[in-house]
Amino acid sequence: MAGNNINLGRCILAPMAGITGFPFRKVALKCGAEFCFTEMVSATGFLHNDKGTAELFYAGNDVMQTGIQLFGSSPEILAQAAEKAADKGFKVIDINMGCPVKKVIKIGAGSAILKDLQTLSAIVKSVRPALKDSFLTIKIRSGFDENSINFLETGRIAEESGVDAVFFHPRTRSLMFGGAADHSLTKKLKENISIPVYASGDIFSAGDALRIKHYTGADGIMFARGAIGRPWIFSEYLSAGYNNIFAESLKKGNSLAESAAAVLSGIERDIGHKINIMIELAEEMCLFYGKERGCNLMKPHLYNFLKGSKGSKNLRVMVNNAKTGKEIKDILNMFKTLNDEYIGIN
Ligand SMILES: Cc1cc2nc3c(=O)[nH]c(=O)nc-3n(C[C@H](O)[C@H](O)[C@H](O)COP(=O)(O)O)c2cc1C
Repeated sequence: MAGNNINLGRCILAPMAGITGFPFRKVALKCGAEFCFTEMVSATGFLHNDKGTAELFYAGNDVMQTGIQLFGSSPEILAQAAEKAADKGFKVIDINMGCPVKKVIKIGAGSAILKDLQTLSAIVKSVRPALKDSFLTIKIRSGFDENSINFLETGRIAEESGVDAVFFHPRTRSLMFGGAADHSLTKKLKENISIPVYASGDIFSAGDALRIKHYTGADGIMFARGAIGRPWIFSEYLSAGYNNIFAESLKKGNSLAESAAAVLSGIERDIGHKINIMIELAEEMCLFYGKERGCNLMKPHLYNFLKGSKGSKNLRVMVNNAKTGKEIKDILNMFKTLNDEYIGIN
């Protein structure tokens, strides 16, 4: 966006295939996410109005706080798709350069682009002029494999070619989700390029987010798996930022990890609040997808939500067998009653 700096806020919901449809984005924004992304959408499918594509990028009244993520490898097709997305009102168009899935790599898209920085530059130079008032971002990994870690060069070329901000998941493509995200690389990337860098990877709590933000100097935090079944993670992070416990703890000489652990006191949302949000999410899912698909798409959220909670084993079996949104709501209400008896999860 010419002459304007991109600012997507402190905490963002990451693109996640099968997870970040309209209902979950809506609830995440309500819970404090300051920006969110659609899951990756094929640039070709988007241009051809392929069946099912419209559902992926629907953003309703949230379009100003929603970025669309496109995947593809042709600079021309990506430019046409980006132009169409900008015309539909999306202020941020993100290009996926991190997806590790074979089907995507095979067409030269996702993390395959990290192996070919000339194509990366060609994509950016082709998409940039098509965008008018919208921002162009990319989401990358640290490299394709351990022998080709090239995030600094990727970041530099992206910046020179006209990218407005980078979302960085510091794992290689070959690691998929294995090992730990290495945020010393995020810190390096932030130190070496001038455009904003947003941190992604293994951010599972408000404490993780504060620790990683402080350590890397990143411009914002992107929550992914940490938000599945826990959309209140955004408001917990924002509260933790306001209440100064983390900063005070660091001042006292405690380590980053100790200070991150300290923030949990006083910010964790109570279980009644969480159950109500899960019920609201189930309702939104059924409204948008219908009661059967809504029920199935709720399941990953419910598994995560119930994980580790007292008395949840039977409930998880019930979730597994549930066929409609109504059954899901009944399970959540049962959990509410159980919780009143047990008091507290964790
Ligand atoms: C189920 C799932 C689907 C994902 N889909 C996408 C996607 O469509 N586009 C993308 O750029 N990243 C995708 N990701 C990667 C996340 O955006 C994020 O970068 C990654 O999970 C690391 O963050 P985390 O360790 O905090 O989960 C996906 C991750 C998961 C778990």
